[in-house]
Amino acid sequence: MKRCFSLPPRLQTVADLVPQSKSLADIGTDHGRLPVWLLLHDLIPHAVATDLRPGPLSKAKDLAKRWEIGADKLSFRLCDGLTSLSPQDAETIVIAGMGGETIAEIMADAAWTADPGHCFILQAMSGMDGLRRYLSGAGFRISKEILVEEGNTLYIVLYVEPEGGRKLTEGEIWVGQQNRDDPLRGRYLEQELFKLRRAVAGLERSQRPEDHEKKKWYELAAWEVEQMKKEWDSWQL
Ligand SMILES: C[S@@+](CC[C@H](N)C(=O)[O-])C[C@H]1O[C@@H](n2cnc3c(N)ncnc32)[C@H](O)[C@@H]1O
Repeated sequence: MKRCFSLPPRLQTVADLVPQSKSLADIGTDHGRLPVWLLLHDLIPHAVATDLRPGPLSKAKDLAKRWEIGADKLSFRLCDGLTSLSPQDAETIVIAGMGGETIAEIMADAAWTADPGHCFILQAMSGMDGLRRYLSGAGFRISKEILVEEGNTLYIVLYVEPEGGRKLTEGEIWVGQQNRDDPLRGRYLEQELFKLRRAVAGLERSQRPEDHEKKKWYELAAWEVEQMKKEWDSWQL
């Protein structure tokens, strides 16, 4: 392997979850660092990098050129989400660095994502609840949730498979599933509990019937996350 650049912690966590020796598609590649890094480390045989906009895609092309990655290893597509990809183009699909709702829309717009045979590594910058709600409703299985800290922010990287999912509870929609070993989990639970309580307080005075319904959901999720936090705290003793 040539001398190589390093990835920031968030992208390194994504890279660590990528199955070796399988083709990859990086949707919304922007700078293209993920596929270039994986190819330079010989971890994947080839990749396709896509983006909605020509500017980011040309940054990715420049990076590949700079590191002498040939077109046989990395190809580029200007497209919205998975629209120009067929199921045969890649075994692993990465969608990182976008909002959770956008990631859910990209998955929902490509019906083949629900078929067996692919894995998805998903990392949302916001709207994790919306993303988990979509995955749970569509029958996907979130087999791993890894927390990673970059700067002062906690990010979550999901490893998702099309089969074997179960309906998540309202609390799990907000904070995912319990993982005893993750040292950042306690802080994450606290952070999300704070957001849920703030959302409940914000809806307290609303007279709108739909807000009343929403408040009940948030209260239920907050109660459940509180129990998870207590359980997590008891594991730390
Ligand atoms: C913040 S960058 C993330 C780059 C990289 N994936 C990462 O995680 O560091 C988001 C990129 O996604 C692209 N993007 C946003 N919506 C998209 C869509 N629907 N399809 C493809 N690319 C999209 C944007 O143009 C931008 O380059």
